[in-house]
Amino acid sequence: MSQSLSFTTQPGNAVSGDVTVPGDKSCSHRSIMFGSLANGTTHIKGFLPGQDCLATMNTFKAMGIKIEGPDENQNVTVYGKGLQGLTAPQGLLDIGNSGTSIRLLSGILAGQSFPTKMAGDSSLNKRPMGRVITPLKLMGANISANDDGTPPVVCEGSEGKLTAIDYLLPMASAQVKSCVLLAGIYADGITTVTEPGITRDHTERMLTAFGYPVTVEKNIDGDEQKTRVLIEGGHELTACDIQIPGDISSATFFLVAGLIAKSGEITVRNVGMNPTRIGAINILKAMSGNLLITNERMAGGEPVADIVVKASKLQGIDINDRDVPLAIDEFPAIFIAAACATGTTRLRNAEELRVKESDRIQAMADGLEILGVDCTVFEDGIDIIGGTIGTGTINSHDDHRIAMSFAIASLRSTGSITILDCDNVATSFPNFVSLANEVGLSITQN
Ligand code: S3P
Repeated sequence: MSQSLSFTTQPGNAVSGDVTVPGDKSCSHRSIMFGSLANGTTHIKGFLPGQDCLATMNTFKAMGIKIEGPDENQNVTVYGKGLQGLTAPQGLLDIGNSGTSIRLLSGILAGQSFPTKMAGDSSLNKRPMGRVITPLKLMGANISANDDGTPPVVCEGSEGKLTAIDYLLPMASAQVKSCVLLAGIYADGITTVTEPGITRDHTERMLTAFGYPVTVEKNIDGDEQKTRVLIEGGHELTACDIQIPGDISSATFFLVAGLIAKSGEITVRNVGMNPTRIGAINILKAMSGNLLITNERMAGGEPVADIVVKASKLQGIDINDRDVPLAIDEFPAIFIAAACATGTTRLRNAEELRVKESDRIQAMADGLEILGVDCTVFEDGIDIIGGTIGTGTINSHDDHRIAMSFAIASLRSTGSITILDCDNVATSFPNFVSLANEVGLSITQN
C-alpha cells in the first residue's frame, strides 16, 4: 500500500452531534475465525469493514471458506466447515497491518495438518511474535519466526499432535491468551491460561456463543486481577448469529473530542461496554470528564450503551494500573485528553504500548513535543503536563490511532496540524474523517 494520505486540520471550537461508530475490531476478527471453524452458517451483523478484519476474512477465504459480505449494512455470512475444514492456502498469507489476525491465527494454524506462512506490512513485520511462538512450541507446534521474533510466522503443520499446557502469561495480553486457547481446541487434554491482569475476554465469550465449552476461574491465588481460562480440546463449534457491538476504541476518539472541545456535546451510540474494555471510561471519568452512560442494554452477548459527553474541565491524574490493560488501545486518545487537562497525568506499567502498531509512548511524546506540550517519557509510561496545543507536522508512524488522536487534538490547537501517513486509519475506522467532520472537526485529506 502506498503510504501517502495525510490529514490537515483546522482549529475547532464547538462540537455537536450524534454518531454511531463502526463495529468492534476484536469481535469482528473473532466472528470470522470462529464462524469459519464452526459447523454450519454464521450470520454476522455490524461487522467492521476495516482493512484488518478484511485481512482476516481474506485469510480464511484463502483456506477454502466461503464468506459473503460485508454488504452495505455490514452483514457477513460465513459458511463454516468445522474444525478440520480448512484447506492449505496457495502461497503466503498476507496479514496486512493486523497483530490480532497474525497472533490468533498462529494458534489456529498450529493445529492444522498443512504448512502455512504469514507476514504483513512493514509495521506488522517489526512486531514481536515470540510471545505466541513460545507457548505454541511448548504445545508441540512446529512453528517459527525470524531470529529476532518478527514475522514471517512459519508453521509446518502439527498433524493433530498438539498437547495441552498450563500457561502463565508473561504479560497481560488478550492476543496471546486467545492464541493459546485456540491452539488448545486442537490439543489433547485441558489447556489452561492464567493472566496476570484482566484482558479483553471476547474469545471466551464468543467461543461460548458458538457452543464451545470454556471455563473461567476468577480471583486466582486470592488476586482479583488474576484469571484462569480452561479449554478442553476436541469439542465442536456450532454456527450462530453474532451481533457485533460498536468499537469502544473508535468511540474513545469521539469521547475525548466531546470532552476537550471548547463547548458542546456529542452522543456516541451503541458503544461496546464489555467490562474488560472500559478502562478509558474509568480514566476519563477520573479526569473529571462529563460522561453520561445511558440506554445500557445487551446486544449479542455483549453489554452496549449510548454515551453522552460534554465539554469538560479535565484534571490530570495518576492512572490506576488496573485500567492499563482495560484501556490499552485508547492511550493515544487519552494522552490528548491529558494534554488538555490541568496539571500532570502520569501513566506507568504500560510498556506494552511500545510494541503496538508503533511505539505509542515515543510516537505520542514526539508529536506532543512538536505541538509544544510538555511530557517526560519513561520506559513503561509517560508524564504529560497539560498546556496549550500548538501547530506543526506530526509523523503518525503509519499508526491509525496516533493519526486519529492528533486529528482530535485540533479541537484545542492554536492553528493547523498536519498529520502524515494516515492511510492506516482505514484499518480500524474507515469513516473516521467523515464522522469527525460531522461533529464539528475540520479535517481535510490530501
Ligand atoms: C486485541 C488485544 C490487544 C489490543 C489489540 C486487539 C485483541 O492486544 O491491543 O488491538 O483483539 O485480542 P494485546 O493482547 O497484545 O494487548
